[in-house]
Amino acid sequence: MRPLIAGNWKMHGDMSWVEKPAAFEALMPATERKHLDILICPPSLFIAAMAASCHEANILLGAQNCHRAESGAHTGEVSAAMVKSAGAEFVIVGHSERRAGGETDENVATKAMAASKQGVTPIICVGENLDVREEGRAESVVTDQIKASVPAGVTDYVLAYEPIWAIGTGMTATADDIKAMHAVIRGLVGPKVRILYGGSVKPVNAKKILSTENVNGALIGGASLEMESLAAIARAA
Ligand code: PGA
Repeated sequence: MRPLIAGNWKMHGDMSWVEKPAAFEALMPATERKHLDILICPPSLFIAAMAASCHEANILLGAQNCHRAESGAHTGEVSAAMVKSAGAEFVIVGHSERRAGGETDENVATKAMAASKQGVTPIICVGENLDVREEGRAESVVTDQIKASVPAGVTDYVLAYEPIWAIGTGMTATADDIKAMHAVIRGLVGPKVRILYGGSVKPVNAKKILSTENVNGALIGGASLEMESLAAIARAA
């Protein structure tokens, strides 16, 4: 399956960052990455300004969130149609940092459906916290999240498994844990959906993670902010 290397810039950067796709292309030209997809998900405000530079560098563009409604009185929100018209083809939904703010599986499924209706591919995030992992319930909790967060009838989506305790902490799941969880996820999502691993993916651990069975790419936070490290991770795919 074609690997997807996805950068999640979270709430970092400024408008000068629209030059980063060109910098990435200089480090790792498109001819060297014909076998994989590179995706950058900047803050929504930057999407329109990055559409041209991403297109030129053969880099896909995504948003970090969208609203469930097509339009309406939702101050401060962006719809999937807006994301699309600004030039993004993907949207992350259900990131744990948003779930921590109260987003439920049901909310995530509604957003994924809203994105899908606009032809924007949702990247649906799931993952357990440390207590759940230590209690030995990680696989059942993630299974329940997937069952409730992937909307019925939507087949074009990406599933990102991100153990919460590994995000931004420098801790990663072991290759055996990743392999076991991704096998469970594969059984749920079927053979065609790309399953990403996320949580402290760095150049130093990328090869091991990306060569694990049923890992079809990575969702990368901190290490996606510098194009050097994003390119180093992409080279490991
Ligand atoms: P991290 O973030 O790579 O900084 O751990 C991953 C994510 O939150 O998607």
